Amino acid sequence: MYDFSTKMRSLRPSAIREILKNMSDPEMISFAGGNPAVECFPIPDIRRYSEKILAEQPVKMLLYSTTEGIASLRESVLRFANRYGKISGPEDDVAILSGSQQAMDFIARLFCNEGDTVIAEDPSFVGALNSFRACGAKTVGVPMEADGVDLEKLEAAFAANPRPKLFYVIPNFQNPTGLVTSLAKRKAIYELAVKYNVPVLEDNPYGELRFEGDYVPPIKSFDEKGMVIYCGSFSKILAPGMRLAYMIANRQIVEKIVTIKQCSDTHTNTWSQMVCDEWLRGSDTEGHIAAIRKVYQRKCNLMLSEMDRHFSKKVTYTRPTGGMFLWATLPDGVDMLEFVKQAQARKVAVVPGNAFLCDEDASSQCFRLNYSTPSDEDIVRGIGILGKLTEEFCG
Ligand SMILES: Cc1ncc(COP(=O)(O)O)c(C=O)c1O
Repeated sequence: MYDFSTKMRSLRPSAIREILKNMSDPEMISFAGGNPAVECFPIPDIRRYSEKILAEQPVKMLLYSTTEGIASLRESVLRFANRYGKISGPEDDVAILSGSQQAMDFIARLFCNEGDTVIAEDPSFVGALNSFRACGAKTVGVPMEADGVDLEKLEAAFAANPRPKLFYVIPNFQNPTGLVTSLAKRKAIYELAVKYNVPVLEDNPYGELRFEGDYVPPIKSFDEKGMVIYCGSFSKILAPGMRLAYMIANRQIVEKIVTIKQCSDTHTNTWSQMVCDEWLRGSDTEGHIAAIRKVYQRKCNLMLSEMDRHFSKKVTYTRPTGGMFLWATLPDGVDMLEFVKQAQARKVAVVPGNAFLCDEDASSQCFRLNYSTPSDEDIVRGIGILGKLTEEFCG
């Protein structure tokens, strides 16, 4: 009945959102979500800073603010982002955005024409893939290896004619696989990006959630040519409902992003920004992040040890060193979609792997599990149920 635009007509709803729609069943154990652990929200800090701001600066909090973000938060965000080593260069600027999903949307709008190609890790975060698709771009995947993307295939994809518009990469605890791109691969990705003139969109919402191993510098930290657009988010260390993220990129890009934001939501919520600024300046953020890491490590280890006990040995899975997800692979010949359906019938939800593929029609043997949201009891019970199912499906 409605004459929707061609671009939007072909857009499919996220498979994850569709699964989450069925989550009203109180019996359902969900390993399908992507929420951070709610017990980690710094609620007393948020309450304290909100009250302080409301008492001391109510008008500022309730007024419109600048599109690029309030000045003091931009300053404290830069300090935070650069605290382990310099990420931003002299030609760079920072913008505060309403979640890094907004960064994906704006970058897609800025770079993609109908029919363009965006290269991404395969599998990858479906929210970003859908932003590229919504702008008429085709998403082309490069397979993941244990230490990041397959470089030979990445180079082949970069060299294709016409050149792709962007390379989208999640180097830390990737969604959905939980994998980390090695330092060597980060450097190689940067070199290839320069060689083929393909800007890199480096999405890093999970970097703070490392509970094992050493910090690996972001691709942005090697960037001397303005080739890398870096995005960080407060969703996983503060609270996702505050809708706070930031982009660090060459000034010319940030300027354009600010113009796009003016046409979209004018500015990021002023209250959230002011609370985040107070939090960054006044609280023990490192202590808070360290506490989150402990919780995630415990939950991840619990899920892994239960999987080790109950899963068929024919199922393989990643062993994350941070982040919120792990990625399981069923042996060839097993019907993954039927497995996921049967799991739901037994009241355990996981996300089918094909939801994350660059080619929406390709099939997958994988499924994603989230360990940050479920309680310990649900992890034990749910993995027990899934384990039995893997035995039934795989023997
Ligand atoms: C890889 C990745 N990027 C971006 C986002 C969006 O995060 P937000 O918009 O809450 O900052 C998510 C959310 O789960 C994600 O997994």
